Amino acid sequence: MKTLMIKVDSWNPELEKIQKAAEIIQAGGLVAFPTETVYGLGADALNGDAVMRLFEAKKRPLDNPPIVHVADVSEVYPLVTEVSRKAKLLMEQLWPGPLTLVFKRSNNVPKATVAGLDTIAIRMPNHKVAQELIKKSHRPIAAPSANLSGKPSPTTAKHVYEDLNGRIDAIIDGGAANIGVESTVVDLSSDPPVLLRPGGTPFEVLKKLVADLQLHPFVQAEEDVPLEKIRSPGMKHKHYAPKAQVILVEGSVQAVVSKVKQLAESYTLQGRRVGILATDETKSAYKGNVVRSLGSRFNLSTIARNLFCMLREVDAEGVDVIVAEGVPSEGLGLAVMNRLRKASGYHIIKTA
Ligand code: TXA
Ligand code: MG
Repeated sequence: MKTLMIKVDSWNPELEKIQKAAEIIQAGGLVAFPTETVYGLGADALNGDAVMRLFEAKKRPLDNPPIVHVADVSEVYPLVTEVSRKAKLLMEQLWPGPLTLVFKRSNNVPKATVAGLDTIAIRMPNHKVAQELIKKSHRPIAAPSANLSGKPSPTTAKHVYEDLNGRIDAIIDGGAANIGVESTVVDLSSDPPVLLRPGGTPFEVLKKLVADLQLHPFVQAEEDVPLEKIRSPGMKHKHYAPKAQVILVEGSVQAVVSKVKQLAESYTLQGRRVGILATDETKSAYKGNVVRSLGSRFNLSTIARNLFCMLREVDAEGVDVIVAEGVPSEGLGLAVMNRLRKASGYHIIKTA
């Protein structure tokens, strides 16, 4: 299959180009598009066959449903059985934005779209291109992140191309994603509501609106969670893994720097090529290795924006091991640490 590249102005998308992409969606095809979090791979959410093609293109396990994207709150109602007071509040205050809400689903939704679950995950992206694509398609769009399953999520059209060229119909290139980590997933089908995946909307922001919101233990897990505790299918699958082995070092900045240096030296002695994911404040400590800075430790939004891109970049250098510094778990840092822990397969070293 030839993958069409459609370059658009992300602030003022050319409507005839979006129209062309919408026609592909309407015909049951697959179109990757930018959102404010990461690139999504879109299909008609109401067409079960189209959604099955999504799973195939991404090589995604069939039990892990995609998020359904809408352009207006009114589009939620036909897809769900009930919209609670808390759901209304979150939609009013935080949509469009990097927040996905899980509802009990209605019977209008094809089984493929929800992977057979009785719930559905929905979000309204805060991105002109995504919104126009949904509107012009005249239907909700099912869209998992547009990467091969298990790889870091794509924050540019180039990342999508690397993973999916020849496997999908088109890629809309609208520049780099601004937030860089995926949306926060909150399950409202249960009471009290539970945050299942940390992401672009910080827990602290949600907690101010929904005081009884719980953090699922998996969010900050430091090891694989037992299968019976799983609430979100995505929890049990391998994630964000570059080709190289990832090791995460957590602790105070000074202790982290000396541990990272020590690890880099000993791997180098073993003849293994080392990549280091550092921060602006610490990168000069690691001369002689492949080093990338995620940004300043005092700006966790920048770190989130750069995370997946830097994981791919260091990996592309052909290193054998990537040693990553931990960052504080507050604000967007919670999502960053969750992704790094998963990327490391829970190979975490704690220092004082
Ligand atoms: O920012 C994002 O959320 C991006 C952009 C494209 O919108 N999308 C994204 O989709 O990250 P994906 O498919 O890579 O991740 C969806 C997550 C998975 O962890 C999945 O298990 C969870 O949402 N999910 C989907 N439906 C669910 C449901 N009914 N109940 C619980 N979790 C669900
Ligand atoms: Mg994903």
